[in-house]
Amino acid sequence: MTIKRTYILAIESSCDDTSVAILENDKVLSNIIATQDVHKEYGGVVPELASRAHQQNIIPVVDTALKRAGIKKEQLDAIAFTEGPGLLGSLIVGASFAKSLALGLGIPLIAVDHLKAHIISHFIQDNEAIPNFPFLCLTVSGGHTMIVKVDSPTKMEILGKTIDDAAGEAFDKIAKIMGLPYPGGPLVDKYAQLGDSDKFSFPHPKTTELNFSFSGLKTSVLYFLKKEVEKDPNFVQNNLNDLCASVQKTIVDILLKNLILASKKTNIKEIAIAGGVSANSRLRMEIQRLGNEKDWNTYIPKFEYCTDNAAMIGILGYFKYLEGSFVNQRITPKARIEF
Ligand code: KG4
Ligand code: ZN
Repeated sequence: MTIKRTYILAIESSCDDTSVAILENDKVLSNIIATQDVHKEYGGVVPELASRAHQQNIIPVVDTALKRAGIKKEQLDAIAFTEGPGLLGSLIVGASFAKSLALGLGIPLIAVDHLKAHIISHFIQDNEAIPNFPFLCLTVSGGHTMIVKVDSPTKMEILGKTIDDAAGEAFDKIAKIMGLPYPGGPLVDKYAQLGDSDKFSFPHPKTTELNFSFSGLKTSVLYFLKKEVEKDPNFVQNNLNDLCASVQKTIVDILLKNLILASKKTNIKEIAIAGGVSANSRLRMEIQRLGNEKDWNTYIPKFEYCTDNAAMIGILGYFKYLEGSFVNQRITPKARIEF
């Protein structure tokens, strides 16, 4: 039996990356990401600047993605785009472009949930291994932190989530307190490699069930540093590596404690991580170590599919294509979306 070749063009524009991917079934032919440097000097993403940059980037990024894939737009079978959640102005740019392209080519339009796409990025063909259903996915990004039970590519349920800040937000806000530029998560990871993670200890939050909380950690780092800087104005510079290592250890420990609990409660030993923070080297290492200790099968997405990218929109788009789950031209993107 020959499997039909389906070509999907996917667009991701929920935050500050303009990304376009072309997939042939579950295989990524191209995955182009234009990051926006304009936000660096503001210490965070400025929504209005993000939507303007998406407008400038979208056509060249689509063009490059098609060229890199060696595909003509007439060969495309469907267009997938991020419906939400995200910054509304940014989402509108991607959604409007996707709608016009689908209309012009006379092909189906597929609306994709950004968070579900992070989770389903595990099914992109060039990942090392693919999880078996049902699996648990610790989904950790700049805006969300949750443990999800995944029954199929389109059926999933949240078992626990953050009641305040997301894990990525905690990395970024604490990095900002330490004077690091946005986004601070990857920098904390980098400095942590040279530091002692047991040098400083920060409290773990008390939350109910499988929920998370990170705002208390941010406040305790803030007060701790204020006190130390009064005694030594160079405290942060002199201890940057140890501070980063200790903060990173605390965040990763908080995440893993609930993941262990979720595995126990559900008796599921297929364990995955997804989202921008799954690029964190300590989280990746600890998941593997726990996997051996607890007899879990662990799944870590390829590095390029952790942070925001259109390939993940394309793979969930492909599953929705197989189900015939299409939307019409009346669709509008949403800043918040029911999971
Ligand atoms: O999934 P993502 O690219 O965008 C959202 O959907 O939010 O996640 C971005 C988040 C940012 O908070 C960023 O600091 C964090 O992921 N991040 C990291 C690392 N790489 C990205 N956090 C810790 N360590 C990293 N290596
Ligand atoms: Zn994301």
